[in-house]
Amino acid sequence: MQHKTVIEPFRIKSVEPISVSTEQERTQYLKDAHYNPFLLRSDNVIIDFMTDSGTSAMSARQWAGIMEGDEAYAGSRSWERMEKEVRDLTSMRYILPTHQGRAAERIIYGHLGGKGKVFISNTHFDTTRANIEFSGATAIDIPIAEGKDTALQHPFKGNMDVAALDLLLKEHKGHVGAVILTVTNNSGGGQPVSMANAEGVAAICKRHGVLFLLDCCRIAENSWFIKHREEGMEGVTYREIAQRMFALADGAVMSAKKDALVNMGGFLALKDEALAEACINLLIITEGFATYGGLSGRDMEALAIGLQEIFDPHYLDYRIKSTLFLGMKMHEMGVPLMLPIGGHAVYVDAKKLYPHIPPEQYPGQALVCELYELAGIRTVEIGSVMFGTYNADGSLQPAPMELVRLAIPRRVYTQSHIEYVIETFAEIMKRREYIRGLKIIKEPRFLRHFTAHFEPLS
Ligand code: F0G
Repeated sequence: MQHKTVIEPFRIKSVEPISVSTEQERTQYLKDAHYNPFLLRSDNVIIDFMTDSGTSAMSARQWAGIMEGDEAYAGSRSWERMEKEVRDLTSMRYILPTHQGRAAERIIYGHLGGKGKVFISNTHFDTTRANIEFSGATAIDIPIAEGKDTALQHPFKGNMDVAALDLLLKEHKGHVGAVILTVTNNSGGGQPVSMANAEGVAAICKRHGVLFLLDCCRIAENSWFIKHREEGMEGVTYREIAQRMFALADGAVMSAKKDALVNMGGFLALKDEALAEACINLLIITEGFATYGGLSGRDMEALAIGLQEIFDPHYLDYRIKSTLFLGMKMHEMGVPLMLPIGGHAVYVDAKKLYPHIPPEQYPGQALVCELYELAGIRTVEIGSVMFGTYNADGSLQPAPMELVRLAIPRRVYTQSHIEYVIETFAEIMKRREYIRGLKIIKEPRFLRHFTAHFEPLS
């Protein structure tokens, strides 16, 4: 019999209680947190969709690996396991362990960057852009045009515009730090990148003699989309697809907090010896010795095992289809979404959901608050709270989109948790015209979304 039901391909061995609160209690918690989900206590959250980063449930094998961790300062056995696993996957000679993605970014972009340098990506993730700009360099995003339209269907909306890349490489000849392909494209809605696009980018980089790097934190999820959407890839395993993509690049940066199924960890992988030597020097100064970086032995064990488990076809199928299940149910009830549904998250278009709330009253933040108050669901605004700036006259320069991200932690929530979220959205749709926006009453100069205080508008 061919079943239609996609089951979680794991049993639960250890549980973490969720403390269930009432709507009345949450109204108070939200007020105490100044209507900012970053200021909520996680104990007061029922379903935490703030991020898929570092929030995975580890497997029994990973927990067993934790006990096997070799905490030696140099030459640790756990390091050998991690290095072998990453090397087999990436085919890169030099592997540098770091405590998370942005530590690897600081090392490589700090070294390659500097004033006058240019970096080009399908979309730089925030920390990638921040590390590049912190070095004095410039970060340019060139997603394909289809990637900027939330409602448009396209199988690989995360692709880079290769024609624009060719032009930019000519224009900035001699000043390009690196070309970075983010798979999947997180800031572009978790959309996948095709193998053909990666091949195109690699060929152009080779022709211009510039370094090609992968930001590969969700490369296993990306492989699922390639296998099921790209011609000629049906017969290739998920792991082989990832290996083929790594083979095209000169290096890779990974936040292992995503597709390596660990709560903390990352790495930088490189092919070139001279570049690796320079980066290892920086690693030793700022992270730790070359055989542990910023990680303990037990972290490295769990990471090595997580990198194997992520390519389990049953896991990946469940992962992508369960995100799709949530997205499609919401789509069917008319919730405006970023389409097609990406791998790790569902993105709601709050501008379309609440057309009566102008950007300066933050429609995304209104939905974030509504989801928490109604159901204890914590999400994050990716719109004018996060990316808005002020014009010279003090008016808000809104972000291009007002999105709310529902990022799904790996192996953590079951079908009934997802049903609970779907039920909540049915209520959200009923009340949509009565929802009001918010104003910011206190904000820091940088990265205001983390700590800003809001007040609902009456
Ligand atoms: N690159 C991408 C594409 C990411 O999504 C992230 C983190 C990083 C790099 C940085 O890695 O957090 O380990 O330092 N994304 C998280 C998120 C924070 O919620 O999307 P890190």
